[in-house]
Amino acid sequence: MKNIKGIILAGGKATRLKPITNVISKQLLPIYDKPMIYYPVSTLMQAGIKEILIITNEENIENFYNLLKDGHQWGIHIEYAIQKEPNGLAEAYLIAENFINGYPTALILGDNLFHGDKLHEIIESKKNLQSGATIFAYEVKDPKRYGVVNFDKEGLVLDIEEKPNHPKSNFAMTGLYICDETVLEKAKKVTFSSRGELEITDVINMYIQEKSLNVEFLGRGNTWLDTGTYDSLHDASTYIRTLENRQGIKVGCPEEIAWRKKWITDENLNLLAKQYDKSGYGEYLLNIM
Ligand code: G1P
Repeated sequence: MKNIKGIILAGGKATRLKPITNVISKQLLPIYDKPMIYYPVSTLMQAGIKEILIITNEENIENFYNLLKDGHQWGIHIEYAIQKEPNGLAEAYLIAENFINGYPTALILGDNLFHGDKLHEIIESKKNLQSGATIFAYEVKDPKRYGVVNFDKEGLVLDIEEKPNHPKSNFAMTGLYICDETVLEKAKKVTFSSRGELEITDVINMYIQEKSLNVEFLGRGNTWLDTGTYDSLHDASTYIRTLENRQGIKVGCPEEIAWRKKWITDENLNLLAKQYDKSGYGEYLLNIM
């Protein structure tokens, strides 16, 4: 049985946020009370994934390392790799070739925020994944911004269309892809699209052609946000703030997940909390103990 390895792509061109992202990677910006990258890291950790590769650009790799280190403080292992140019999501697999090393992977985009119970259960259930891929579909009002899932009359998936002008459904493909080890050979076959990227949709369409794609629908009880615009960045912060203040629990808190999974001890958590002394974050960590 092979555990799933996690890959986080935290680079990209983020054209709409250029005035900010020319200076700092947007995944280092806060979503309310913690850096954006904490959320995808937490999603993977919740699913029991302990080996993670973070792919980012040359300018930001040091900042990511300063923030997340090698992951041992959270009982996990984090490696880093560089994507020189924003050549698209499928390139993540090519960059991660040595890291993948025949294992199944969960690729998650650094700016995608998932919240809900179902998700990590599904990812965990794929731990014994023998073959094929799983993607997650989410109903949205503005499918044009995403990869859109096309169905036939029986509800079978026909293909995924990247940012179509005339979307045939309202179901977006979220930025989380669980794939068997054949993803690498598939990614190697992808050629540049008209927008100049190696598209993840081409990889996923290869799984559809092989009849080995499983689509999970994230229903009403789940939240998926991506933070590609100023408004969606703000909305995500507001959403997390509302939720956390209402319930008194944190979303996307790697320290808490590590402690609840017993990957770190009480003593470890205590030390982490002290690091955030005099902040609500530190107090929260002390309180959960
Ligand atoms: C990418 C994918 C797209 C997917 C989206 C999710 O879009 O290409 O299929 O729906 O992530 O966030 P991009 O980040 O290139 O806009």
